Amino acid sequence: MGNVYNTPMFTSEVLKDQVIVVTGGGSGLGKSMSRYFLQLGAKVVITSRNLEKLKNTAQELEAETSGKVLSVKCDVRNYDEVEAMLAATLEAFGKVDGLLNNAAGNFISPTERLSAHAFDTVIDIVLKGSKNCTLALGKHWIKSKQEKAVVLNIVTTYAFTGSAYVVPSATAKAGVLAMTRSLAVEWAKYGIRMNAIAPGPFPTKGAWDRLLPGDLKEKFDIRKKVPLKRVGEHQELANLAAYLMSDFSAYVNGEVVTIDGGEWLQGAGEFNMLEHIPQSMWDMLEAMIRAKKK
Ligand code: HXC
Ligand code: NAP
Repeated sequence: MGNVYNTPMFTSEVLKDQVIVVTGGGSGLGKSMSRYFLQLGAKVVITSRNLEKLKNTAQELEAETSGKVLSVKCDVRNYDEVEAMLAATLEAFGKVDGLLNNAAGNFISPTERLSAHAFDTVIDIVLKGSKNCTLALGKHWIKSKQEKAVVLNIVTTYAFTGSAYVVPSATAKAGVLAMTRSLAVEWAKYGIRMNAIAPGPFPTKGAWDRLLPGDLKEKFDIRKKVPLKRVGEHQELANLAAYLMSDFSAYVNGEVVTIDGGEWLQGAGEFNMLEHIPQSMWDMLEAMIRAKKK
């Protein structure tokens, strides 16, 4: 048996008959989380700009899990398309219980090299896209007096720290986090819970091609930035997402759960650089410090 974190966490169908919309569900982490939702009994609507990709993913996931997947072409930047996606979901499944705001756009660049349109593009996908889906589904849940619903937003750890060279993404993800915390309070009275996950590095083609192009992958061994000295496994993120989508987390609301092996804290702690001091030097350093007392 491999490591336990590669293993599905739940042993029963905790999402049975739940209908969950996963934006950007055709690839990367969205696909991995969709797969696990299906294994747990959910019906999943995967959406993105590329219908062919979605259909291939749907076919693959249905064959793997025997679950039901609906593919809907929907650019989250356009509210009309999001409303149409909601209508297609309701037509196919009669209801919707969960929204996973996972779609994103991002690339590394010195900010002064960006055109205004480039900056807007990332903001529009991440912040406006998450807002569009949340608003459309939220209005539906409130109007139809649905007993309960869940929104889960995928942010990043730099939503709270900020980060150079991905400034549009950091700005947008911070906005999504603010929306999460705000609506968790405002919409709780309608039975809508809202949480976020802040993942550290989980390799995907979409992210790695844009954030570590060419030989940057070799130049910056991302594992070295993580105290646990490894990147994340898709299953362990899927385990967390399934928990936050399920009723097991019914009292968790307005929370952002970091899953990064301690990465962002390693960059933050004032004296974390002392990690580089060899064990053999500590006797000498202690002696020097104690000597000051005399
Ligand atoms: C500077 C760039 C650029 C680059 C595009 N632009 N790439 N500017 N450097 N590398 C500019 C374009 O010139 C244009 O501006 C504007 O951005 C829009 O570009 P388009 O290609 O027309 O946009 P679009 O087709 O909508 O594509 C959006 C995209 C693309 C974000 C640029 O990368 C995309 O489709 N991404 C989706 C998937 C993705 O990004 N996945 C990674 C998520 S990873 P002008 O002015 O010329 O019109 C992630 C991880 C975070 O979020 C944390 C990791 C630890
Ligand atoms: P990815 O495979 O590139 O996923 C992004 C998805 O968003 C794609 O499926 C893409 O599909 C979709 N998308 C992009 N623009 C869209 C639009 N305008 N409308 C609808 N869908 C759109 O990358 P990923 O790594 O799995 O990222 C998934 C999420 O995790 C993102 O929110 C990302 O910020 C977050 N995250 C990832 C990491 C990591 O290490 N991988 C770390 C922290 C956070 P189309 O191109 O077909 O539209």
